[in-house]
Amino acid sequence: MNLDEMKILEYVDKAILAREKAYAPYSKFKVGAILVDENGVETTGANIENGSYGLSNCAERSAIFAAASNGMRKIKLIAVVADTTGPVSPCGACRQVIKEFADDDTIIILGNLKRDYKIMTMEELLPYGFEL
Ligand code: THU
Repeated sequence: MNLDEMKILEYVDKAILAREKAYAPYSKFKVGAILVDENGVETTGANIENGSYGLSNCAERSAIFAAASNGMRKIKLIAVVADTTGPVSPCGACRQVIKEFADDDTIIILGNLKRDYKIMTMEELLPYGFEL
């Protein structure tokens, strides 16, 4: 996938829109994500919390599980945003779940509401991650 800055910001903006759907009444910390699969299909996700806090689901995993349930098997690109000072840093669990569907070419965009962004590879995001 060839990405110019305009395209990167388009995905950041789509993740910002997806974040609006977050259900985060407990932490008040909304996160949005969008992924593009091997067929060019886009799927968004947001964090969905639960009164039993440990059952809450992160935005990245919401997007990945929704997409995988519909047949996605390769993440070409994933963008994640939150209202953070710099580009958001995904949690360890989400890094491992992204890895399940990523390859060396997967583009990972970390962003925030100010449209600051950072592009990372899977290896940079989760070096020596678990693999079966
Ligand atoms: N959260 C995400 O959605 N993604 C991450 O990578 C880190 C954390 C959510 C989980 C919880 O709803 C809120 O942010 C605060 O931890």
